[in-house]
Amino acid sequence: MNDIELSQGLCEFIEASPSMFHAARALAGRLDAAGFVPLREGERWGIERGGSYYVMRNASSVIAFRVGSRVPADGYRFQMAAAHTDSPTYKVKHHPELDGPGGTLRLDVEPYGGMLDATWLDRPLGIAGRVVVRTPDGGIESRLVASDRDVALIPNVAIHQRRNAKEGFAINRQVDMCPLISAGELGRGSFDAMVAELAGVDASSVLGKDIYLFNRTRLRVWGWANEFVSAPKLDDLQCAFAALTAFVQTSNDACVTVLACFDNEEVGSGTKQGALSTFLRDVLMRINGALGFDEEAYLRALAGSFMVSCDNGHAIHPNHPELYDAENCPRINGGVVVKEMASQKYATDAFTRAVFTAICEEAGVPVQTFANHSDSLGGSTLGNLSIERVSVSTVDVGLAQLAMHSCYETAGVRDTGYLVRALQAFYACDPQIDGTGSASLK
Ligand code: CO
Repeated sequence: MNDIELSQGLCEFIEASPSMFHAARALAGRLDAAGFVPLREGERWGIERGGSYYVMRNASSVIAFRVGSRVPADGYRFQMAAAHTDSPTYKVKHHPELDGPGGTLRLDVEPYGGMLDATWLDRPLGIAGRVVVRTPDGGIESRLVASDRDVALIPNVAIHQRRNAKEGFAINRQVDMCPLISAGELGRGSFDAMVAELAGVDASSVLGKDIYLFNRTRLRVWGWANEFVSAPKLDDLQCAFAALTAFVQTSNDACVTVLACFDNEEVGSGTKQGALSTFLRDVLMRINGALGFDEEAYLRALAGSFMVSCDNGHAIHPNHPELYDAENCPRINGGVVVKEMASQKYATDAFTRAVFTAICEEAGVPVQTFANHSDSLGGSTLGNLSIERVSVSTVDVGLAQLAMHSCYETAGVRDTGYLVRALQAFYACDPQIDGTGSASLK
């Protein structure tokens, strides 16, 4: 696929992913189409060499894996990539509405993750997420809902009423970030009725809901030379899409290849389905058991395994180069970014950088480096959290983007393809990691 075709695929993936639940479903749909067999955690797994499978947790995290047809009986390894399904947004509270003034109806929301609040102002917004409804036979059932039109907007205050707006002002999320949903024609109860209609049930049947705002602005490729891609949720759906594309296209006879897309990275990963959970470990241990291996074989497999943790990084901002380290700052369309931090909030070290760089060099994919400005704390990601449960050699990488955690982010059109090619080469290779900082790459 060329860059424009990949961007079209990315556009379709992001539009299918207005919430983390939808992102997980979009991943599952693409895995279904590629012939992967869905498994459930609560059922017995029949896993065979040469098979392709996936499993979901909380309907918002997905782990897919392919068992090589010639995984050796005397030892094997996992070749893994990870990304996250969630993005910063606002969650609607259980009692969802705020009355007035002036007969208006607003939503009562709270932040999910660390967003740039101001970017959410003056934009038509949709609502999406999951509702849990009562079924006619007395059970309960989860359903995904998403509005296919704009239903809310968070209005700015006019410049005439806030003359100091240019100097900046503190946003109070309880006051400033309440989305407007009606000028007076909708009354109390309308939001729950709207959600129930989207779910195809009566409002009285809805017992619980996880509903979030999303920006309905479409992905655009822009610039006279078609260099840029702008869209909601590029962090981290650009990486999730690239990793999925590489994963389903690449087989590896000798290894178990794994793609893990976790929910809740934006709120610290500490949930039952996040990168800090047992989800990945549980799946890997079950694969190990199903292949007839014992616990020692599992620990030997981990010692030889490798993880590429994929989460977008910061491209140099043209208006603010002073915020960056002068030498370790990536640019848009400059290739896959290896992220490194002395504190090890990025898991990259010399060995994992070397393995990943060698694979990229072989594949003809350019590699760049990100390190924080030494006076800034920087962000965190999921690689260093995942390895608390599954301790394997890990490199943190990403694609360079601008305006991270804006509700409309900007990245490079060429970079998606670079990550696809890097991960295809990664999934196809079988680095024999010997645990002493050496590996043979073949
Ligand atoms: Co991210």
